Amino acid sequence: MALWSGRFTESVSDFAQRFGASLPVDRQLYRQDIAGSKAHARMLGAQGIIPAADVQAIVEGLDRIERSIDAGEFVFDINDEDIHMAIEKQLIADIGEAGARLHTGRSRNDQVVTDTRLFAKERCRQLMEANLQLRRTLVQQARQNMDVLLPGYTHLQHAQPVFLAHHLLAYAHMFARDFKRLAQAYDSADVCPLGSAALAGTTYPLDRRAVAADLGFSSITANSLDAVSDRDFLLDLSYAASVSCVHLSRLAEEVVLWSTTEFGYITLSDAFSTGSSIMPQKKNPDFAELIRGKTGRVVGDLVALLVTLKSLPLAYNKDLQEDKEGAIDAARTLEDCYRCMEGMIATMQVNADAMGASVQKGFLAATDVADYLVKRGLPFRRAHEAAGHLVKLCEQRGCNLDELDLADFKAENDLFEEDIIAACDLAAIADARLTEGGTGRAAIRDQLALVEKAVQSDGSFCESLSR
Ligand code: ARG
Repeated sequence: MALWSGRFTESVSDFAQRFGASLPVDRQLYRQDIAGSKAHARMLGAQGIIPAADVQAIVEGLDRIERSIDAGEFVFDINDEDIHMAIEKQLIADIGEAGARLHTGRSRNDQVVTDTRLFAKERCRQLMEANLQLRRTLVQQARQNMDVLLPGYTHLQHAQPVFLAHHLLAYAHMFARDFKRLAQAYDSADVCPLGSAALAGTTYPLDRRAVAADLGFSSITANSLDAVSDRDFLLDLSYAASVSCVHLSRLAEEVVLWSTTEFGYITLSDAFSTGSSIMPQKKNPDFAELIRGKTGRVVGDLVALLVTLKSLPLAYNKDLQEDKEGAIDAARTLEDCYRCMEGMIATMQVNADAMGASVQKGFLAATDVADYLVKRGLPFRRAHEAAGHLVKLCEQRGCNLDELDLADFKAENDLFEEDIIAACDLAAIADARLTEGGTGRAAIRDQLALVEKAVQSDGSFCESLSR
């Protein structure tokens, strides 16, 4: 019979027991559960609610249980329903009466959400660290590819030349925003609900703030009904993970595209590619595809939790037990995706020649040919039309803009002079884009400094978080 069997005459059916058990999922939270129980016991002792000798027995007993779970020796029994029951039952079996005093002034409802918040904080911190590692690698690749030019695209059509560093740093900015979302998720988890008991608080003189401080929480929840039923912190974590996965999927898609024969912009290292079981020549970007695919799963985790929470009346409902699996999965999946992407980007070979050859195609100088005329007084719309004519001429001749003669330019508009040929140089065109955040190398260097500063300060922020 279960620990709550006082008012029951029959045990729950075997099937219902398995159906209702969360142990297969929440056994991952054993460290948090034990930390929460130790803090609760110490506070009960300090408040004179249970004897000091019992506190000592409880803390030692819980430490022994933690070691036995660590060592894989603890025998989990599905009949214990969840990690809270499993540990408490073992504690009572080990130390008797003292163990039976642990649950004074506490409910599994505030216990489980305390464990889950501790777990979420830890996962957010780990994710922030993995996020930082990926950003460091992007910065490093950007530094190494300051001079590599490639076509910038809109509609996947060649648009204007950009430097590879600029393109890579675009992702560093996305991941920097994701870091902030993860930090926000950390913050929303960082509130201690213990002491809310089942739903209404408790008559025991608990010191909620002492427990919170002991567990490294920054504050305590303010409403016991909300405290036991609030899972917004898991939504925040799942949302942060979803957005970051979406960003990863965009980068993954470019990795897939860029490693095709058609593009050939990058070659993935063997360590981050797979072969084909039938086609000997194949080298597939499986891991980039998988990162792209995992996004569906993480977004699914977010949607599942949103729907679970929808219409739930106050306060605790068993539906809430469904909160952990998806959020744990989302966090683990994102961490794996960060690590995989980081390794892939760190080890890929950049084929500057292929990018350089591609940038010559598609008349990427056309905007600047128009701007040339504008700077000499022609209204932009007229200049746009003139450059369009020149592109058409190039198409007819099968040549590039910088292969036209000055006479061809002059025939289109008399404002063209000798220097138009040099004005078509693609690196110069990119470099001239010096607006803040532009692709000119001088602007990229400023941008790099900003990105590196953010990586630094986010790194110190991570360090400052309690473990
Ligand atoms: N296993 C439960 C969960 O994950 C713990 C809380 C159970 N509380 C209850 N009143 N049945 O949500």
